Amino acid sequence: MPNPDAPKVLVIATGGTIAGVQNAPGTLGAYRAGTLTADQITASVPELSRYARVETEQFSNVASTLVTPEMWVRLAKRINAVLERRDLAGVVVTHGTDRLEETAFFLYLTVRSSKPVVVVGAQRPATGISPDGPINLLSAVRTAASPKAVQKGVMVVMDDRILSARESRKLYQRTGGFSTGDMGMLGVVASQGPEFFFAPVRRFGERSEFDLNGVDTLPKVELTMSYPGGTGHTFTTNPQGVVVATTGMTTAENATYRALRQTGVVVVTAFTSGENANGGGGGGDGPPAPARPDTTARRDSVATPATPPVPPAVAALHLTPTKARILLMVALTKTKNPREVQRIFNEY
Ligand code: SIN
Repeated sequence: MPNPDAPKVLVIATGGTIAGVQNAPGTLGAYRAGTLTADQITASVPELSRYARVETEQFSNVASTLVTPEMWVRLAKRINAVLERRDLAGVVVTHGTDRLEETAFFLYLTVRSSKPVVVVGAQRPATGISPDGPINLLSAVRTAASPKAVQKGVMVVMDDRILSARESRKLYQRTGGFSTGDMGMLGVVASQGPEFFFAPVRRFGERSEFDLNGVDTLPKVELTMSYPGGTGHTFTTNPQGVVVATTGMTTAENATYRALRQTGVVVVTAFTSGENANGGGGGGDGPPAPARPDTTARRDSVATPATPPVPPAVAALHLTPTKARILLMVALTKTKNPREVQRIFNEY
């Protein structure tokens, strides 16, 4: 039974398996992600009208591997604009799961609102056997419509779980494949509706300093791996920043990335697991040494130019390398100073 007094929720569709149609419907066979429209997806779940007055908008209709950083910027601007509407309780973004965690984290950093934004996908196509999209969409809309979801930042709702976009990751390609690792989830979507048990405490939403006005493209940031025997990566693409996935670099890697820092490139190190929380001087160089007066210089000698100090590496705190890359891209829209970038990684 539709509820005419239910909160309004805007569903913005971007594509993915949740909009996927199979070559042979009703099988477990191959499918085309990003085929059904926003209206078709929402119409397939009539129960939505019990919990929300749903509006729809088609942002794109693609597999999420085709989502670009420029699309993140446009999507975040659109969500910031629609959340100004007083009559809108929240937004749901339907998205392919391959790149869902990246888009969700970008929105977590750049949507400056206390209203709920929920990103949702599916691991089985809409026309397959036992699709997970309809129940995931229902849970996402119930969460976006709920006053309990205010001030929780951008969330990922999948498989009845409510996850913070900061921590959510795709672990595998089956239902239940999204997890938050050690940090736990915010809550669950129970039969009576969303139930929260935790809230994120880092900086996001209304307290975010990242203003996308005037930003259309993001600074170029590369991502590279460190490994035994590695010598580090050199770039022909002139990145402004580099994220190195490492638990500790080789001597040669340290030298390569130190030289890169010397040229003004901001280097961030992140554990592949995303579970490390140690700060300060990531990358094996240790925290930046305090400046000391040079007591060795003789007054009567001709001064030799001092070697400029090497800018410190930045340590990502409890972020996966892909998410550290996104925070660095966003941070570089504000500053190129690695100490300021470290401050940003410490707060978000
Ligand atoms: C995609 O990411 O667009 C395809 C895979 C999925 O949605 O699960």
